[in-house]
Amino acid sequence: MGSNAKIRNIKGTRDILPEEALKWRRMEQVIREKMKAFNYEELRFPTFEYTELFKKSTGEDTEIVQKEMYTFKDMGGRSLTLKPEGTPSVVRMYIQHGLRNRSKIQKYYYIERMFRQERPQKGRFREFRQFGAEVIGSMSPQIDAELIKLALDIFKELGIKGIRVNINSIGCPECKEEYIKALKEFLSPILNGLCEDCKKRFITNPLRILDCKKDRDKLNSAPNTIDYLCDDCKRHFSDLREYLDYLGIAYDVNPKLVRGLDYYTRTVFEFIHSELGAQDEVGGGGRYDGLIEFLGGENTPASGYAVGMDRMLLLMPEIDGDKGIDIYIVTLDKESDIAGWKLLSGLREEGFSCDKDYLERSIKAQFRESDRQNARWTIIIGQEERKRGVVKLKSMETGEQKEVLLNMKAIKEEISAKGS
Ligand code: HAM
Repeated sequence: MGSNAKIRNIKGTRDILPEEALKWRRMEQVIREKMKAFNYEELRFPTFEYTELFKKSTGEDTEIVQKEMYTFKDMGGRSLTLKPEGTPSVVRMYIQHGLRNRSKIQKYYYIERMFRQERPQKGRFREFRQFGAEVIGSMSPQIDAELIKLALDIFKELGIKGIRVNINSIGCPECKEEYIKALKEFLSPILNGLCEDCKKRFITNPLRILDCKKDRDKLNSAPNTIDYLCDDCKRHFSDLREYLDYLGIAYDVNPKLVRGLDYYTRTVFEFIHSELGAQDEVGGGGRYDGLIEFLGGENTPASGYAVGMDRMLLLMPEIDGDKGIDIYIVTLDKESDIAGWKLLSGLREEGFSCDKDYLERSIKAQFRESDRQNARWTIIIGQEERKRGVVKLKSMETGEQKEVLLNMKAIKEEISAKGS
């Protein structure tokens, strides 16, 4: 970069300006309210972890670990990675802090930034935000249904319409093994015609071939996971469907849905929206009944999902802007300016949102600024007023103006009386 070139944000990261920050706040507020209603507690976790955590849990052969992680060595030579997803950290925390001892079932949520080195495009970034929900300790398909309902309630509250739910079951490790055998039998004769990635996946992780966008058409008649479920997994999946029906949730069974992370067992699901184009997955998740034990904890079932908030934002309708400020102070001369500045600080202590001019602007320009700031009241202070220990208080709604004593109590009373 030449020395005079302007420094810009890094490709795939996003600058959020105030108008958009408003939508983010609304999103976060609704997520927190719904999580409270469903009794999920918040977890916050570090931005980076030992690389090994993701290799072990997300999966050595997954796209994320193979191609997308931001991995670097620290000064002690340890390999660290910016978190590409939340589930491994949640499980690590669960084991490390003995959260099992708190209660047999734990329900958590998070709102966190994630990092993946993917090719940026609409709805796909290198730094992005996810909210996630994870339930640890229950095998019940009621939990899977509850998780789906929780996300749908959040979408609905934010005015996001048109989300479709796809579900599938990939079975427990035993039925998965049976299925993979059948899948490999199906793939062997057509393997030469598949893309290079799929040829590799055939050895390392054949399930992932079903996710391939390039070879999708060649896989239409591949065997379906649900035809290979054992009795317990079959019952689990039919119970899930019944619970979803019970909650009035419309869904499609997509027998090719496997998801791209290694830890899933039984239920998998995704939230889709057609308006997002190529990146049409708003969120996804499923059960990971084996992960906790695999990472050194006790054998504990778990289920969860994450939703891409940047994608949610694209689907959210416009919302009303901030309602503006309570009071803008207009001052007519230098000394009044100081009096106004002092008053400002007192008003803020009282909880009013207020501001004044700092550019020595003309009275007319100060009034214009009061309008621009959408102030409900303007306080005017000039030499005349100061002499008499008063200020002018103008309602910007009615245009009505009156004199009030220059003290906090009087101003507060006047403003409160008008119902502001
Ligand atoms: P995931 O499917 O990798 O699952 O990501 C979840 C969501 O994050 C996606 O559906 C998408 O909306 C969003 N997302 C992923 N990559 C990007 C990106 N580059 N830019 C913008 N948004 C993106 C997981 O992360 C699992 N941890 C979900 C889970 C939780 N499973 C069980 N518990």
